[in-house]
Amino acid sequence: FVLIDALNHATVAAGMILDRPTAESLRREPVDKKELARIRNIRKETGQVTRADREKMMGRKAVCFWMTGLSGSGKSTISAALEKKLFDAGAPVYRLDGDNIRFGLNQDLGFSDADRQENIRRVAEVARLLNQAGVSVVTSFISPFRQDREMAREIIGESAFLEVFVDAPLEVCESRDAKGLYRKARAGEISEFTGISTPYEATEDPAVRVDSQRLSLMECVDRILAVLPERSSDQD
Ligand code: ADX
Repeated sequence: FVLIDALNHATVAAGMILDRPTAESLRREPVDKKELARIRNIRKETGQVTRADREKMMGRKAVCFWMTGLSGSGKSTISAALEKKLFDAGAPVYRLDGDNIRFGLNQDLGFSDADRQENIRRVAEVARLLNQAGVSVVTSFISPFRQDREMAREIIGESAFLEVFVDAPLEVCESRDAKGLYRKARAGEISEFTGISTPYEATEDPAVRVDSQRLSLMECVDRILAVLPERSSDQD
C-alpha cells in the first residue's frame, strides 16, 4: 500500500502487510468481532436452543458473580459459601477459582500484567459460555487491574456481570498470610506480588462491596445475594 498526501498527492510512504494477526497480537490488542470474523474467515453459527430457552427451563437467569480483591482477602472462602448457598437453593452454579484454573486451562500463564490480562480474558470467556448454558458462575480471581475487569464485564455482558469487591486491608491480608506468600514476596522470593510489588486497583463502583474483616462469612454471602436483581440476559 502507499500513503498519499491529500494536498499535493505526493507519495509519502509505502508498506507491505506480511501477515495476519497472530494469537499473540490478538491477545495484546483484541480486535472487533466483525473484524475477527473477516480476517479469520470464521462466522457465528446459531443453534436451535437459545440462552432464553435454557433459562426458562432452569427457571432463572444465569449471572456471574465476579469476586475481586487481594490474595488472602477471602474471595475463595466466600465464593465457596456463595456457591453452596445457591446450589442448595436449586440454582445451577459453578465456581471458577484462580488457583485451580492455573492448574489446568491457564497453566501456561504467570503473573506479568499481560498474563494476568489473558488469565482474566479466558476466564471471562468460560464464564460467558457457562452463562449461555444457563449456569451461574462465581469467580474468584485477584483481577487487580480495573481495565481487565472491564474487559470481563464486556465479555460476560453488562446485565449478567456482578462485580463483588472483597475488601480487606493489605495489612490484614498480610497478617493472615494463609499461604505464606506475603512473607515470600517481602523476602523478594516472589516477584510481581499483588499489593507488594505490583498494584491492586480497587473498584470504585462495584455492584457490592463486602468487608470480609468485619462481616461473618454468611453475612458476606447474604449481602452478595441481596444485589441479585431480576436481570435480563444478553442474547446470542
Ligand atoms: S490474577 O491476578 O491473575 O487474577 P489469580 O487470582 O489467577 O491472579 O491467582 C492468584 C493466586 O496465585 C494467589 O491467590 C496466590 O495464591 C497465587 N500467586 C502466586 N504468585 C502470585 C503473584 N505474584 N501475585 C499474586 N498471586 C500470586
